[in-house]
Amino acid sequence: MNILEIISKKRDAKELSKQEIEFFIQEYTKGEIHDYQAAALVMAIYINGMNDREITDLTLAMAHSGEILDLSRFGKNIVDKHSTGGVGDKVSIILLPIIAALGIPVAKMSGRGLGFTGGTVDKMESIPGYRTNVDIDEFIKNVEKVGISMIGQTMNLAPADKKIYALRDSISCVENIPLIASSIMSKKIASGANKIVIDVTVGKGAFMKNKEDAQKLSEQMVKIGKLAGREVRCVMTPMDEPLGYAVGNSLEVIEAINFLKGDMPKDLKEVVLELGSNMIALAGKGKNIEENKVKILETIENGKAYDKLIQMVKNQGGDISYIKDTAKFKKSKYISAVVTEKTGIVKEINAEEIGKLACYLGAGRINKEDKIEENVGIILNKKVGDRVEKQDFLAYICANNKAKLVQAEQKILEIYKIM
Ligand code: URA
Repeated sequence: MNILEIISKKRDAKELSKQEIEFFIQEYTKGEIHDYQAAALVMAIYINGMNDREITDLTLAMAHSGEILDLSRFGKNIVDKHSTGGVGDKVSIILLPIIAALGIPVAKMSGRGLGFTGGTVDKMESIPGYRTNVDIDEFIKNVEKVGISMIGQTMNLAPADKKIYALRDSISCVENIPLIASSIMSKKIASGANKIVIDVTVGKGAFMKNKEDAQKLSEQMVKIGKLAGREVRCVMTPMDEPLGYAVGNSLEVIEAINFLKGDMPKDLKEVVLELGSNMIALAGKGKNIEENKVKILETIENGKAYDKLIQMVKNQGGDISYIKDTAKFKKSKYISAVVTEKTGIVKEINAEEIGKLACYLGAGRINKEDKIEENVGIILNKKVGDRVEKQDFLAYICANNKAKLVQAEQKILEIYKIM
């Protein structure tokens, strides 16, 4: 068997065998297959697709490319959460401390930004000192000690996905059902949870642009879960405009902290409640979804979720003075308000365009080795449905580069559709 035969088979839209898929994953993980060959195969999968059997084989091969965590010491129902990605999506940073504060153990492995969407790991790293690069023993100890740990994808868990994820990001092969389903499910299988809630985002700022595709992706992940003995529940959430107001790493962390202090943007609150109530149900801690939502709100109101965030950050080396006083986060060099000349109602703020703009400012990566700038991005001041008057501020741009700032100001005026 050799990689050239495998690439040409998929290039010609033929079905790959289990052995061929396993060969590719094992050899690529070991570094025996070059990035350019893997890129060719991934592009061929993107264009020609995979059937259910191939997707399942790909998922399991990626899951078994490293260690499979055993979390059974934390009980029978270990619940995890994942999102298919969005713009302004800081839900994990808010929701997981809430879940942990309710006494449900949280062992969460997150990803970095992908395409125009942000990643929880990049966001968490904007908290000075916070370590996302934690080995498995410490990860488990942290969950035992404070009930929660949020880390990056360690070298040992689904390392094949880690490589392919970064590769896809740099060759424009992200929005694809077989690749997304296998990426998410391989990580979830490897990271040990037996109950998984997946936020399948749908809309202009999601990889799935319409409900039909989101439904297909959901079914695919549920099917893979069944085969792997995991209970998967998919919740579709809208992602046409950015979620909440902030887009950009430290900007989103600040919004998440403020949320846990009680300042909850409506759309973000809905997603947190929807996903959280399902997580609680899967954990066997309450069947009634509406009652679970009340529990979530109580955990915010009584400060327990915020306290849990502090505990987690402290335990992983983060400087909690930034959580207590978000004004300490380093500001970008330039912050400018974008003023409108129009009067009317905001009809559209295309989340993908905002996500791309945030990447252009430095919040995301164009090449897989790019360093991100944690303090750049966009803070919306007006959301869809808001009324605006001439001279109102639509949004604030946070940038470290003057030329980019000027370009971004112009772009925001184009992205906001006011009628
Ligand atoms: N999240 C993932 O983990 N993988 C994808 O491919 C997309 C979103």
